[in-house]
Amino acid sequence: MPKSIEKIAVLTSGGDSPGMNAAVRAVVRTCAFHNVECYGVYQGYEGLIEGDFKKMDARSVKGIINKGGTILKSARSKEFRTKEGRQKAYDNLSEEGIDGLVVIGGDGSFTGALIFNQEFGFPVMGIPGTIDNDIFGTSHTLGFDTALNTVVDAIDKIRDTASSHNRLFFIEVMGRDVGHIALNVGIAGGAEEILIPEEDLGLDRLVESLNKSRKSGKSSSIVVVAEGDKIGKNIFELKDYVDENMEGYDVRVSVLGHMQRGGAPSCFDRVLASRMGVKAVEAMLNGQSNYMVGLLDNKMELTPLDNAIKGKTKINLELLRVSDIMST
Ligand code: F6P
Repeated sequence: MPKSIEKIAVLTSGGDSPGMNAAVRAVVRTCAFHNVECYGVYQGYEGLIEGDFKKMDARSVKGIINKGGTILKSARSKEFRTKEGRQKAYDNLSEEGIDGLVVIGGDGSFTGALIFNQEFGFPVMGIPGTIDNDIFGTSHTLGFDTALNTVVDAIDKIRDTASSHNRLFFIEVMGRDVGHIALNVGIAGGAEEILIPEEDLGLDRLVESLNKSRKSGKSSSIVVVAEGDKIGKNIFELKDYVDENMEGYDVRVSVLGHMQRGGAPSCFDRVLASRMGVKAVEAMLNGQSNYMVGLLDNKMELTPLDNAIKGKTKINLELLRVSDIMST
C-alpha cells in the first residue's frame, strides 16, 4: 500500500496557457474538499528549488477561473535539470511535509516530473497545459481551445484588410513542432493554404495553388503557417519567394506570436481544467502516481507520464482533406 497523501503541492511550468489558473483552482479546491493541505509553488520548478511555496485554501483561488496566464507564474528551469537542483527541490518539499506534486505544463515539464519521481520516489501527477495540443493521451490540452478562438479572431480581422487591398497574407501561428493550431484555425478562418510541419507541401505546389485560387476569382488570400513548418523557409523568406515567383500579388506577413497564449480561457478550457484538477488530485489520493490526466472520448483518463512524453500526437487527416476541399 502506498503511503497516504496528506499535503499536495501544485505548480505551473513551461509556456503558460489559458486555463492554467482554472486548473490551479481545481487542484486547490479538490484538496480542500478532501481535507488535504495544498501548497502553491511559484515560478514552476524554480520555486521548488527556492522553497517558494504558499499554503492555499479554497478562498485563495477565488476570482481566477476566468483569468489568463497563471497566478503561480511559470518558468523553464535550467537548475531543475541538474541532480543538485532536484535534490534541493526534494529537501524543500520534505521539510514542508509535502508528499505529492501536481505539475501543470507540457512535455518538458512532465520529463522533469518523471525524473524527479524516479530519483526520489516522489508521487507526481501531470495536467497537460499548453496551447500546442501536442501531448499524447488527451484530445485537448488546456489552452488549445482558447488559443484557437483567439487566432480565428485575429485571422478574421486580417481578412478584412486583406480583401480591402487585394493582398496575400502569410499568418504565422504557434506550434513549434506540430500543426494542430494551424490546421484548425486555417479551416475556421477560411485560409487558402495551411502549412504545417507534418506535411511538406513544397514551394512549387504552394505557388501553383495560390495561382489557381487567383484564377478562380479570389482577389485576396490567407496562408496560415505553423511556426515549425518544414517547408524550408521562414515566413519572411516565404513572402520573398512568393514575391519573386508570383505576378501581381501584394504580399504581407503577420506573425501573431505570444498574444496567442493570453486572454480569458474559453468555457471549454475552464470545464476541462476543472475536470482535470479533480481527477489529478483524486487519482493521487487513491495512491496513483506518474500519470497524466487527459480527455479521451469525453472521459477523464490516466496515461503513464512516460507515454505522454514519448507518444506523438497525429494530425487529423480528415481535417487536411476538408481544408483542401474548402479552399477550392
Ligand atoms: O509550447 C508552447 C509555445 O507557445 C510554442 O507554441 C512556442 O513555440 C513556444 O511556446 C514559445 O516559447 P517562449 O515563450 O519561450 O518564447
